[in-house]
Amino acid sequence: MIMSMPVLVLLAAGVAAAATHPGDAVAMRSLANTTGAAKTLQWGASSPDPCGGTWVGVTGNGEGRVTASPCCRSRSAASAPSTSAPTPYSKSSTYGFFAAFPALETFNLDDNEMSTMKPWIPYDVMSCPSRRSFSAMNVHFAGGFPNYFGNATLFPELESLSLARNLLWGEITPEFGKNSKIKFLDVSQQGHDEDARPDDVMRGVLSFVSGMPNLVEAHHEHNVFKGPLPEATNLTNLRVFDVSDNDLCGIAKFPAGVTVNVAGNPRVGTPCP
Ligand SMILES: *[C@@H]1O[C@H](CO)[C@@H](O)[C@H](O)[C@H]1NC(C)=O
Ligand SMILES: *[C@@H]1O[C@H](CO)[C@@H](O)[C@H](O)[C@H]1NC(C)=O
Ligand SMILES: *[C@@H]1O[C@H](CO)[C@@H](O)[C@H](O)[C@H]1NC(C)=O
Repeated sequence: MIMSMPVLVLLAAGVAAAATHPGDAVAMRSLANTTGAAKTLQWGASSPDPCGGTWVGVTGNGEGRVTASPCCRSRSAASAPSTSAPTPYSKSSTYGFFAAFPALETFNLDDNEMSTMKPWIPYDVMSCPSRRSFSAMNVHFAGGFPNYFGNATLFPELESLSLARNLLWGEITPEFGKNSKIKFLDVSQQGHDEDARPDDVMRGVLSFVSGMPNLVEAHHEHNVFKGPLPEATNLTNLRVFDVSDNDLCGIAKFPAGVTVNVAGNPRVGTPCP
């Protein structure tokens, strides 16, 4: 027991000494300005070092790489005339944002008021292979469903994907989530963009679910998924499966103990044609 004390002290000193990686620091300072977090969250007010502990919501790892950031939850930035101040999420300036934070594990953009800009998920999101959680709910993300999040080669650590209440459309591929660690998936309530074609809705079949053994909770409610309910008898970790208000058919086959909601699917309960 006595020997453990100096070790602890050394460890603590080691962590505190890891100043933010210069590239991450530049990117975070730029983010502080463009999102308004410099004002609303006082990022940079008491220290220019994002991982130093004074930047609300920002944490770094032992090498000074930024690992978690709430990102722009700023309200003042959203109400400012946004055309003159490009944000990292605008269509014109998305590239480079995620590439600037290769160690980012969690990303949360829920209910961001900048959503009136209808941003798209920056393609360089793929430069963050250590991401465990990606959450962008109700931010008016418009576009084809980002199937790449379900590619376990690109995102081997991803456990939680929350994309509810956006304007996503298209089909989820049958390979989505195969061999992935995804436990929580929420693609519910995709709205319809007024610029979109009539069939630009969240549709297709749910067969991919059968290939996601780690799935615990899945939300697909209020979309236009068709075809049979997925074969789920092998999904032993599953606890919640909500597919209410779609256009599914067939007989529900789930392990005991799963809370299943199939309301609003008139053809569920009878065999599919
Ligand atoms: C952010 O704004 C401050 C104050 O205007 C400025 O000094 C700083 O250089 C800016 N940082 C970046 C990265 O643009
Ligand atoms: C997953 O990503 C890897 C690397 O980019 C690629 O080679 C592979 O084809 C992708 N898999 C699927 C199912 O798209
Ligand atoms: C479920 O698992 C069993 C045993 O591993 C396997 O034989 C069967 O094909 C699986 N069923 C489905 C629908 O994947």
